[in-house]
Amino acid sequence: MHKDVEKILINETELQEIVQNIAEKINSDLNGEPLLVVIILKGSTPFAMDLIKKLTMPVEIDFMQVSSYGKSTASSGFINLKKDIEQDITGKNVLIVEDIIDSGNTLNKIKKLFEHRQAKSVKICALLDKPSRRVVDVDVDYSGTEIPDEFVIGYGLDYAEQYRNLPYVGVLKKSVYEKVVD
Ligand code: IMP
Ligand code: MG
Repeated sequence: MHKDVEKILINETELQEIVQNIAEKINSDLNGEPLLVVIILKGSTPFAMDLIKKLTMPVEIDFMQVSSYGKSTASSGFINLKKDIEQDITGKNVLIVEDIIDSGNTLNKIKKLFEHRQAKSVKICALLDKPSRRVVDVDVDYSGTEIPDEFVIGYGLDYAEQYRNLPYVGVLKKSVYEKVVD
């Protein structure tokens, strides 16, 4: 598995520092108000599990799964809601937790959906941000760190469902997803 990693971008210690910084900002902004944390499956689960343990207000969690059609290393702009959350969010403070914001299509659509359902507030938290790839403008309230336009794996992030269990975020070797042509 590690042999497919071009380089380590964010190591375990750095990841924990990033999560700690985000948690401190959320704790300070919410000032003890209850929070519903909506975890976007599957990629954000390791990040979300580390994050919620550092939150100090009353927290509920729920899960949502979306998929985007198209090539496996780029977003197509079409979002398919595969699993919805199970509760009424009217009047609640909602925090959407995502692994990475790339084109912005996924978070833009989920945020609009939650606003339409009349949440009290809808905030977005993303561990990683690839600003150079943005197609849709999205306000990310809590962003871990910006990364260059490279396909990354690990700490939840996958390529073809693999590599999610790597403890760091690394760049995937191009040879893994690009066919070699003679
Ligand atoms: P967006 O809708 O284009 O912002 O894409 C967000 C989703 O694309 C993320 O939830 C990831 O599942 C996936 N994604 C985008 N970039 C990467 C990457 O570098 N590695 C793994 N998954 C990625
Ligand atoms: Mg994802």
